Amino acid sequence: MERRKLITAALPYANGPVHIGHLAGVYIPADVYARFQRKKGREVAFICGSDEHGIPITIRAKKEGVTPQDIVDKYHAIIKKSFEDLGISFDEYSRTTSPKHYEVSQDFFKILYKKDCFEEEVSEQYYDEQAGEFLADRYITGTCPKCGNESAYGDQCEKCGSTLSPTELINPKSALSGNSPILKPTKNWYLPLNQYEKFLEDWILEGHKDDWKPNVYGQVKSWLQDGLKPRAMTRDLNWGVPVPLPDAEGKVLYVWFDAPIGYISFTQEWAEKQGKNWKDFWQSEESDLIHFIGKDNIVFHCIIFPVMMKAHGEYIMPTNVPAFEFLNLENDKISTSRNWAVWAHEYLEDFPYQQDVLRYVLISSAPETKDNNFTWKDFQTKNNSELVGIFGNFINRVAVLIHKYYNGVIPQGDENADEVNEIQKTAHEIEQFLEKFEYRNALTSLMNLARFGNQYLQVQEPWKTISVQPEKAAASLFIAAQIAVALAHLSEPFMPFSSDKLLKMFAVDKVSWNDISGVLIPSGNLIEDAFLLFSKIEDDAIDTQIQKLENTKSNNQKSNPKAQAMKEEINYEDFSKIDLRTATILEAEKVEKADKLLKLKVDTGIDVRTVVSGIAESFTPEEVVGKQVMILLNLAPRKIRGIESQGMLLLTTKADGKLSFVTPDEPVDNGVEIG
Ligand code: 2FM
Ligand code: ZN
Repeated sequence: MERRKLITAALPYANGPVHIGHLAGVYIPADVYARFQRKKGREVAFICGSDEHGIPITIRAKKEGVTPQDIVDKYHAIIKKSFEDLGISFDEYSRTTSPKHYEVSQDFFKILYKKDCFEEEVSEQYYDEQAGEFLADRYITGTCPKCGNESAYGDQCEKCGSTLSPTELINPKSALSGNSPILKPTKNWYLPLNQYEKFLEDWILEGHKDDWKPNVYGQVKSWLQDGLKPRAMTRDLNWGVPVPLPDAEGKVLYVWFDAPIGYISFTQEWAEKQGKNWKDFWQSEESDLIHFIGKDNIVFHCIIFPVMMKAHGEYIMPTNVPAFEFLNLENDKISTSRNWAVWAHEYLEDFPYQQDVLRYVLISSAPETKDNNFTWKDFQTKNNSELVGIFGNFINRVAVLIHKYYNGVIPQGDENADEVNEIQKTAHEIEQFLEKFEYRNALTSLMNLARFGNQYLQVQEPWKTISVQPEKAAASLFIAAQIAVALAHLSEPFMPFSSDKLLKMFAVDKVSWNDISGVLIPSGNLIEDAFLLFSKIEDDAIDTQIQKLENTKSNNQKSNPKAQAMKEEINYEDFSKIDLRTATILEAEKVEKADKLLKLKVDTGIDVRTVVSGIAESFTPEEVVGKQVMILLNLAPRKIRGIESQGMLLLTTKADGKLSFVTPDEPVDNGVEIG
C-alpha cells in the first residue's frame, strides 16, 4: 500500500492578512506538494487553520480598541478566503478557537501531566498591579542593557537585535498602564526539553543527515550543541486555551503548545466529516508527516512539538520539515507593521483571474536555500516572456493549427515517436524534484517541456509541410498535441486554474500522475476552440503596483513611530451617523474645583449650547472666546461635574503636550457640516 501523506502548513497568526512572503515560503510549496501527492494516487490530509492565540493577537486588539475575538474573527475570514481564491487546496482550514481544538489541546496537556512529563516551577514574573495582570514579555518595555535603546521589549531589542529577558531591561514599564511592574511569584509547568536531547540527536542528527534540508538540519544541530533548557508550556494570560488543572486559574497553554496541536485537532475535525480515522494519519507507521514552515518556526517543529509528541507516546515523528527561507520585496524585508508587502487579497483584486501567474512567479523564485527577492518587474517579465511567450504560445499554436487544418480533430501520427518519450521523462523529473522539495527545478522541467514543444514546431514547420507533405504535418501536430495535453496534466500541481482550462480546451479528463506518458489524446478526438491562456501584463499595471509601494515608503518616512495604529475599519454608513459642524465659542468660564475643565457657551448655527471641555490646562477662558471650532453635535448629552455637556469639541495634542483646536482653514458660517 502507498504511504499516507499528512501534510501540514504553519498556522498563520490571525492578526493580519497573508502576504507573498507567507505564500512563497509555506502555502504554495505545501499546496504544490499536496496536489502532486493526490495526483500520485496517495491518500492525503492537507491541514491548516488560523493561529488565534498568542500575544500578536492581543497586541493588535489593544491597538485597535477591540477584543481579541473581534481580531481573529476578522482576519480568519480574510485569510481563509485568500487561500481559497488562490487555489490552496487544504482538506481542512480551521481555527484554534474552535471548541474541538480546546478539547484536544487540553486532553493532550492532561495526558502529559498524568504521565508526569512536566516540571512545576515557581518563578518571579513581572506583574502590573494596576491592570491586575502578569505581563507577557512583549508588554514590558524598557532600556536595552546592550545599546541603550529606551523602547526595547521584554523579549527583544529591535534596535540592536539582541534577545533579552524582561528582567534584563533597565527601568521596565508596563505597556498596559505605563507603571513600573513588580516581580511576583507564579507557578508554571515546564517541559524538560533537556531530557530529550539524546532522542533528538539520534532521530534527527543521526537519522536525517541526508534527507533533511541543510538549513533545517543545521539549525537543529546548533540548538542541540548549545544545550536545551526546560521551557514553560503555560502562561499567565487571559487569552488562550485555559490550563485544565484545578490550581491554574488565570493561566493558559503556551501558544506554541496549543498551535501545533491544532494540526491534530483539525485533522480530527476533517476525519469526522469524512468518515475517516484520524489515527491512520497521526499514529500509524504507514503515514508520512510533513510540516511546511518558514525558517523562524524550525525550533518549534523540529524540537518542541516532536518532544511533546514523544512525551505523549502515541504519535509518529515528522518525516521531513521542509523549512523555507524568507522572500524580500523589492530588495527590502517584508514587514507587516511597515505595510511593506504584497497582500494576497489585494493582489487578487488588482489581478483577478491571474492566480496562476502569482503561483508561477512565487514558485520560480521560491526562497528554497537562501532568502530571495520579489520585484514587480520580474513578475511582469516572467508572465510576459515565460507564461505568455513560451507556455501559452505553444498551447495556442497547437490548438489554432489543429483547428485551421483539421477542423479541431486530432490528426493521425506515430504513437511510438521518440518525442513522445519526452513526456514521461518530464513527469519523472518533476516527481524527483518535488520529492526533494526542489520546486524551482521542478518548474524548470515543466517549462522545458513547453520549450521543447516550441522548438519541435519550429523545426517541423507544419504550416509549410501541410501543402507539400500533409502526412508529415499531421504527424507533427499529433505529437505537438500530446505535448500540449501533457503540459495540461503536469501543470496541475503548480497552476491548477490553467491546468483545468487546458483540459477543457483539449476536451480530456484528468489522469493520475503515473499515467502521464505516451498518447494522452488519441487521433480523431475533437478539441474545443483555442483561447489565450495567459495575457500580457502591461507597464501601467506594474507601474501602479510600484507606485503603491513608493507611497508606502514615503508614508513610512513621514510617519510618526509613536503614532497609534489605525482603528478598526468602518464603512460610510458608520461615518455618516456622525454630525460634525463648525461653531464659535461665545463664553468661557472655569469649572469650580476642576483644574482641567472649562464651561463653554457655543453657537452651533442651529442653537447655543453648553459644552464642558477638558482644555483648562491648555487655554485660559479669555483665549478661547471668539474661536471658531469644530463640534461633534449629536453626541448624547453627559453630565460632567453636575453640568450637562451637549457635544464635544475636536482637539489634537501638540508636541509639547498642550491641546490645540481643530479649526477651519478660514472663517466659515456656524453650523456648516463637516465631512
Ligand atoms: O509563526 C507563525 O506565524 C505561527 N503562527 C506558526 C504556528 S505553526 C504551528 F505550530 F501551529
Ligand atoms: Zn539594544
